[in-house]
Amino acid sequence: MRTAVLLLALLISACVLSQEVMINIPGRNSFSLNGKWNYIVDPYENGYYDYRYEPFDKNENPTGGYFLDRKPASKSDLVEYDFDLMPALMVPGDWNSQDDKLFYYEGTVWYRKLFEYAKKDAGNRVFLCFGGANYETDVYLNGRKLGKHIGGFTPFNFEITGILKEGSNSVVVKVDNKRRRDGVPTLNTDWFNYGGITRDVCLVEVPGTFISDYFIQLAKGKQDLISGYVKLNGQNASQKIRIEIPELKIATEITTGESGTASLEIPVKKIDRWSTSNPKLYQVNISAGGDAISEKIGFRNIETRGTDILLNGTSVFLRGICIHEENPMRGGRAYSVEDARMLLGWARELGCNYVRLAHYPHNENMARVADEMGILLWEENPVYWTILWDNPGTFENARNQLTELITRDKNRASVIIWSMANETPVSDARTSFLKKLVTHARELDNTRLISAAMEVHRDPAKPNDRIVEDPFAEYTDIVNFNEYVGWYDGLPPDCDKINWIINYDKPVMISEVGAGALQGLHGDALTCWTEEFQEDLFRRNLAMLSKIPQFRGVSPWILCDFRSPRRHLANIQDGWNRKGLIGENGTKKKAFFVVRDFYRQKATEFEK
Ligand code: GCU
Repeated sequence: MRTAVLLLALLISACVLSQEVMINIPGRNSFSLNGKWNYIVDPYENGYYDYRYEPFDKNENPTGGYFLDRKPASKSDLVEYDFDLMPALMVPGDWNSQDDKLFYYEGTVWYRKLFEYAKKDAGNRVFLCFGGANYETDVYLNGRKLGKHIGGFTPFNFEITGILKEGSNSVVVKVDNKRRRDGVPTLNTDWFNYGGITRDVCLVEVPGTFISDYFIQLAKGKQDLISGYVKLNGQNASQKIRIEIPELKIATEITTGESGTASLEIPVKKIDRWSTSNPKLYQVNISAGGDAISEKIGFRNIETRGTDILLNGTSVFLRGICIHEENPMRGGRAYSVEDARMLLGWARELGCNYVRLAHYPHNENMARVADEMGILLWEENPVYWTILWDNPGTFENARNQLTELITRDKNRASVIIWSMANETPVSDARTSFLKKLVTHARELDNTRLISAAMEVHRDPAKPNDRIVEDPFAEYTDIVNFNEYVGWYDGLPPDCDKINWIINYDKPVMISEVGAGALQGLHGDALTCWTEEFQEDLFRRNLAMLSKIPQFRGVSPWILCDFRSPRRHLANIQDGWNRKGLIGENGTKKKAFFVVRDFYRQKATEFEK
């Protein structure tokens, strides 16, 4: 049995890892495939399995799948579908918020896009790039299987050079958002399982040998040394690479070896380090042979010293808020620059210098807009609640999603914390699983901090004690936990009696605290679901948490009400989690102003 599982894990990882993630798509000349895609809803997946439930594309043969945009070859040729006769979904975008019949749908939808293409140069290579699709995606071009991706929130791409036609092409994508016990996340989550091609899709054309990856940041603990690497992909992998940062008068060359990778170390005399009060970004230009790419990168240091979090050597307090990737005004997955500006704009109004992007990798626009606005970010791998800790395929999946997240965002100054998990029950298997993810994260990026949302424990003999003690805390830079005193744990006045037992000489952050309130419902401070209850809970919780000596950051749960199938109370929840400081209609609740005032006070105690 174990061998079979291992084989499955290797097959999955082979499918998923068939292509390394191409970074900085926004910096590329791309051909967008966004817009209308015809779709077929296929709950029995009979476009993928034959009537004996054998996959059409078993053994990874090049032509897979039945729904491959085939037309009848003759009047007697039986074809039981026709994309041309089907409605269209907008890409990017979840299907749930676009078609009422698909609101709660969990299963397979087939998408099809026809497009004309002409290569700019015959010697170029072409990649089909997805910002993300939830949850398991199979991609076909002109009837050929390109590969499979597992994971709902990270980018993936396939080389299509040899399959793309000059002129008319047809891309078919199978997206299946069914929740899986062995998935990452697993069956149970407190967020809406939006399915579909939820992020941008485009073609990227590059020279035969191109710049596929690079990491350019200040070396850990150094303000006078930029370090990292540049990676080439192609036949001529050993080449001179030129890196320029004109504003710093930097123009240097490195040479890649046969592997196509070259490390870089660039001394800098005086650099204007990125910070929340000065989000300075530098134009970085990289060129190699026939390829060139640019983007704006911020350079800053982030580290911990004892119980302090140091941004560029200065102790900071992270005035945060949690955000789900959802535009509450539209009630669907957020994906655009405009969505990012709205959500981060509300966080800025709250007085935040920091945002926790819960519980999975958000779209790339969030980190790029945060870079511009000077907002620090916590980014999280969706290892949420009761993952199958003993399943090798589940670990491979979690590891791959973490790899894709770090690969995509490792040059974003705003990103300071990689979070391994949320509220995972302590066990040897869980701690071993998470420890391996930490090791992997630090191998990919040793410049950022590692944490996770751990849980609070209690001692029956001491009812007012709340204990933060987790074997995983040994491996993280920040001791961080979720607490709901006053909501799931007693009532708001109980906050005044709590003793926190946190025996770590590390910075302590609270990644969730909060209560539900229906925007516009008013009453006294002990009436559940009123704005006054939520307001009083925050007032008491923030005072309680301020007594923790190592207290260096908090991100209340949550900026906006968000859809969740776990929230059933009619006339109050109606399928929404009501813990937002802002209602689904964009109206701020009274608690918003309690948190804002607390942050105004905190900003005077720490950096501006
Ligand atoms: C948990 C969990 C969140 C959830 C929240 C709640 O802490 O991390 O995902 O939404 O509690 O119950 O509202």
